[in-house]
Parts: sequence; C-alpha cells; structure tokens
Amino acid sequence: MRQLLSLSRAARLVGVARGVLQQKIQSGELRSFDGMVSGEDLLLLYPEVRLESEVGFERVSRIKEEAFGRRVRERMLPSQEILSQRLFEQSRELTDLRAHLQRYHAMVVRLRERLSEEEAGATQAARASAARLGALLERELEAVLGEAAAPNALAVMDDMLRVMSAHVLVRPSRHEFFVDGADTILEAALRSGLALNYGCSNGNCGLCKARVVSGQVQKVRHQDYVLSEAEKQQGYTLLCSHTAVGDLVIEALESAEAGDIPPQQIVAQVKSLQVLDGELMLLHLQTPRSKRLRFLAGQNLTLSAGEASAQLPIASCPCDDRNLHFHVARKAEDGFAKTVFSSLKAGDPVTLFGPWGDFVLHAESPRSILFLACDTGFAPVKSLIEHAMALEVSERLHLYWLATGPSGHYLANLCRSWAGALDNFTYVPVTAEQGGAPELLRRVAADHADLAAFDIYLAGAGPFVEAAASALRERGFPEAQLSLAVV
Ligand code: FES
Repeated sequence: MRQLLSLSRAARLVGVARGVLQQKIQSGELRSFDGMVSGEDLLLLYPEVRLESEVGFERVSRIKEEAFGRRVRERMLPSQEILSQRLFEQSRELTDLRAHLQRYHAMVVRLRERLSEEEAGATQAARASAARLGALLERELEAVLGEAAAPNALAVMDDMLRVMSAHVLVRPSRHEFFVDGADTILEAALRSGLALNYGCSNGNCGLCKARVVSGQVQKVRHQDYVLSEAEKQQGYTLLCSHTAVGDLVIEALESAEAGDIPPQQIVAQVKSLQVLDGELMLLHLQTPRSKRLRFLAGQNLTLSAGEASAQLPIASCPCDDRNLHFHVARKAEDGFAKTVFSSLKAGDPVTLFGPWGDFVLHAESPRSILFLACDTGFAPVKSLIEHAMALEVSERLHLYWLATGPSGHYLANLCRSWAGALDNFTYVPVTAEQGGAPELLRRVAADHADLAAFDIYLAGAGPFVEAAASALRERGFPEAQLSLAVV
C-alpha cells in the first residue's frame, strides 16, 4: 500500500525545507497526490535517508536557526506527559495491529487445515487441486514474510517524528505546521509564520478560539476565558493555552491583510541596546509574557519613550512576537533617536502603539521576490525575509541592499548567513561609490531579464523609493506587484 505523507512531514523526514519539495513537484521530479507525496517516491529522490541520530527535523531546525541568526530556538523535547501520551497512542496502534495479525494468522491456520482435509478427499482431481492451492499459499506466505523483514527507514523515522512533534493542518487555508517541544498550538503557528487570530496570548480574551476537527489537545497554560458548553461540544479550544497531543486538523481564522489586525497599545521594556556603528543603534524591546504584540512582517509601530516618540519599521519577524527589533539612525532633528543614543537603557519602558502600514508579504503569490533596500530600508525588508523563511516559501528571494550612509551594510554578516543557509536566497550589496540607486537598478535588470515575473518590495528614504519606483514604472512594471515603504 502506498505510504502518503503531507509535504511538511515529508520535508522533515528527508531534512529539507518544505519549499524544496514544492519546487520538485512544480518541476515534475516528485509526484503529488492531492497535496501529499508518496514515501516510495521520496526514497527514490532521497535514497540517502538513514536511521541515524541526525534525523531530518533536526537538520531543518538547524537551517532555521542559522537563517534566523540563532534567535529562534526550538525546544525540541515535549513534556513528559505529552511524550507518554504519544507513546501510549503508538502502543495502542501497535496492539491493534497485533490483534489484526493474530486474526490473519488464525485464518491461515484454518485455511491450511481445510486444504489438508481436501487433500484427503475422494477424487484424484480434487486432491491435486488442493495440493496446488496449498503450495501456492506457502509460497505467498514466504514472499510476504520475506518482504516484512526489510526495514522501511522512512516509516521508522515517521514514527519517531510523531513522538517528537505533532502535525497541524489548518482549515480552510490548508496551511500546515508542527508543534514541537512544550509549545502551545498558537506559539507553534506563529513560529511557522502563520498569522492566526489571537489577542492576549494569555487565556483571557478568547480571540484564539478555534475548532478542533480531529485529534486531541491538552491544556498546558492557565486560562481564565470560559468556553460555553455549546462551544465545548462543537470542539472549540483556546490555541494559546493548549498543545497538540497528536496530529490535528483545526478550523481557525488567519489574517491575510494589514487591515485585519487592530491597533494595540503595549508597554514593552528595553531588553538591550547594541551599537551597530556610531550612527546606528539596534534597539531590542521585549513585550510582557502576558501581553504580546500582533503584527504582520514589514509593518511599523509608534514608539514613545518619555516625551519623545517616532514611527519606526519593525525589523524582526512576527514568528518571535515578544522580541521586537528596531534600527534607529542618529539624526540631529529626531528627538526619539536622541533619547535612544543618550539616555535610554536596559529595563526602561517604551510604549508601543500600532501596527501601521501595508508593506506586507503577499504570501500566496506564486512569483519570486526582489527586495530592494536602501540604508535602514533594510529594517522592514529584514522582517519580510525572516517571515518568508519561517513560511518556507519555495519561490526565490533576492536581496539588493544599497548603502549610502556611514553605517554601510550594517548587518552584512546576517545577509551572508541567510545566503549560506538557504538554497533559494541571494544577496547583492551595492554602495554609493559603485554608482548608487542607478547601479542597483542596473544590476537588478542585468540579473533578471523578465522583471514582470517578480514581486518587488522597495524600502528606504523617500527619494530612493520614488526614483526606483518611477524607473520601474517607466519600464512598464505592473503596479500591483510593487510594494513601497518609506522609512
Ligand atoms: S489569545 Fe487571548 S485567549 Fe488566547
């Protein structure tokens, strides 16, 4: 019987990103059966799959950790209770299979007895026919038992993966993700780049309510919100306070557009201030554990510290929603930047209000992506790239970063580590000395003859964005595929 696997599970088993398998399906190298792939086809493509300690899901997690600059760390081990429940489920399946096999065995014994009786029958023809059937039965049994002795590496790894993590399919979007370690279903979905509906992430508001269509969940966090009896009977649960015991299918709402997320006000704390160079500060804020900020990658926030405030793009990914990064440039006329460089310190409160803006990823677009950033226009682009990585998009991602100021390509090592960790990512740095924005556009056009095959995200100071956008429009680039952010 064909062993069918979801794309996410197959990717974990062979240790590649989901996007890599999507590309193989698109190119015809791998067959797809209604969104699933067969274990046999997978083994033909990846014959080196081995039953060793370096199993696929560890490799995929490592790729993500490297790509995210080791910021998103996945805790791999589920709690003892969840582990024992998953092992109990597998033992039950094994017991059912054993009982099934015993029934087959009894049937074979009965068949043999019957054939022996026939062999002692009245006519020679009946005796010969019974002997032939008996011999056929023995040959078939031998062949089947011989096959069963061959180990199926993929099936064994799949069993192991089911103990370590649970697979979740979201309806109606058909998005998939895994719940690893002690994560709640909501945390696991956010880490995977999904924008599920939620509010407090603390069991109070009920906004993360979703219906469990199949599978079992378990409460791992306290919740004050009370579900009605009717909701409980229909299978509703709070995603922020439950984890998955085994594989799940859920019905849940997801945000697709910036307008789906309401403005929120949260007081965060300064976690750290890191000088990227004399003119640029990496401001790391952390929201309280009980109150997180919901936003889409690429959006802005209004930050207030004392009397000073500014609107800045978020430079980090919503997959790590408690930790928010901002790239603050020193500017004489900017009161907030002055505060950041002169008096703000770890532990200080900063009020956040937002999110704002529609410079967000069109995740369902089938086109490859060109990110064109100038100076701190890299901040929202970084957020989009990390989000695309969390989603494991299969399309190609190209970053062209123009540095015109004294800070240069201030996170060049991070960009190089993305290019090193991901097959579908390229990084091209350009400087003002090399020719500035015209040179950046010349390189983009030289590298990609058919620009209409891309979605383009442009971010930087006003003059850069205006000049690059008008150059693209003059070449007839479709407006619907162009996203702009002025920072
Ligand atoms: S997000 Fe508020 S109860 Fe889950």
